[in-house]
Amino acid sequence: MPALVLLGAQWGDEGKGKATDLLGGSVDYVVRYQGGNNAGHTVVVGDQKYALHLLPSGILSPGCTPVIGNGVVVDPSVLLSELSGLNDRGVDTSKLLLSGNAHIITPYNVTVDKVTERFLGKRKIGTTGRGIGPTYADKINRVGIRVQDLYDESILTQKVEAALDVKNQLLTKLYNRRAIAVDQVVEELLGYAEKLRPYVADTVLVLNQALEQDKVVLFEGGQGTLLDIDHGTYPFVTSSNPTAGGACTGTGVGPTKISRVIGILKAYTTRVGAGPFPTELFDEDGEALRRIGGERGVTTGRDRRCGWFDAVIARYATRVNGLTDFFLTKLDVLTGWEQIPVCVAYEIDGRRVEELPYSQSDFHHAKPVYETLPGWSEDITGAKSFSDLPKNAQNYVKALEEMSGAPISAIGVGPGRDETIEINSFL
Ligand code: GDP
Ligand code: IMO
Ligand code: MG
Repeated sequence: MPALVLLGAQWGDEGKGKATDLLGGSVDYVVRYQGGNNAGHTVVVGDQKYALHLLPSGILSPGCTPVIGNGVVVDPSVLLSELSGLNDRGVDTSKLLLSGNAHIITPYNVTVDKVTERFLGKRKIGTTGRGIGPTYADKINRVGIRVQDLYDESILTQKVEAALDVKNQLLTKLYNRRAIAVDQVVEELLGYAEKLRPYVADTVLVLNQALEQDKVVLFEGGQGTLLDIDHGTYPFVTSSNPTAGGACTGTGVGPTKISRVIGILKAYTTRVGAGPFPTELFDEDGEALRRIGGERGVTTGRDRRCGWFDAVIARYATRVNGLTDFFLTKLDVLTGWEQIPVCVAYEIDGRRVEELPYSQSDFHHAKPVYETLPGWSEDITGAKSFSDLPKNAQNYVKALEEMSGAPISAIGVGPGRDETIEINSFL
């Protein structure tokens, strides 16, 4: 059985955690391939709610092996506290595998992230302050620290020295901060080495061997398509590739192994942090979406910006990810609106534009062109099949599917595992 990718089709927080957890019971491996603890994935199992940041959502399914791939950036202190938090709640985390090639978010990279944002002032990105950007920058600059470096003190020291050489100049001379001592960082990192050792593995080999043995592997994206460093709304993006290609580079599994790419798509749109957002609402509707949808960041606690569904973005996600399916989430949140506007195209400087413009200036000027669909008032949280949905809710889903370019194979009608309507099986 080949591999599947599950990723965010918008600006993150689409409900990837819930969708992954739902599939976790039927797959052998769930693998994070990029990002780090900037992610906040909420999973609700019965009356228990879990907020996962770094661990793949498959960790809550006992039969599933969770894997942190080489493309992820790992803050060891966050990883260890997330593991112990789950252990305290009775979750077995002993199967976790951690790539020895994954890069480590060092304490100085958390500092650099925060200091840089402060320095940017009103031009800031609104990062999560978790050190993500600086850690990927170090990786690309070839001064990064990898998990395997924790097991060779002399190499680790040399690498921390190399990384801090430039950073300390920046911190002291540009940002007016104190220099960070190499010894202190090395000591802290070495302190994590033995605690992480049981999990460290050659995950590329493990995953490819699993696929050869017909095991089912699910790749779980963090963030979303429009936050992708290459395909997102640059520079208001994260520093990795949440899009489907990232699943290959971030795990060492080739594209020929991937048979299905599932885009998680919220029935409306949200965004956290700065950057363009054509359908953003600043009125009571936006406030109502935030309130009813519980749109508050799992990682930073910031209010999410809210707006109507944007089909231009959904079509773009279909294209850049080669989506085979959508999993539409939070349809229940729209219950109660008499009319629901959906953005079908943009107007840019008087022209109607059907596809996402590559030019950032055009995108910044894009005004949504809305079509209004009739809403429904019936409670849909108990719906088990498509035919259980009121006619107008069915029509809303069908309209979104037509506009978005891939079949909607599942619909979320509540946060719980079983509050899902399955239309086409993913496995
Ligand atoms: P992720 O980052 O993509 O995993 O999404 P988040 O966990 O940050 O945000 C999604 C939120 O919506 C979480 O609180 C989920 O429990 C919740 N959620 C997911 N699917 C549904 C759904 O279909 N209906 C409702 N009402 N809530 C959902
Ligand atoms: P999940 O996986 C929503 C946003 C931040 C900021 C930008 C860059 O829960 O969907 P970073 O710290 O990554 O350098 O911040 O990206 N961002 C997210 N927004 N959901 C996320 O993750 C996000 N991870 C990062 O708000 O705008
Ligand atoms: Mg989230």
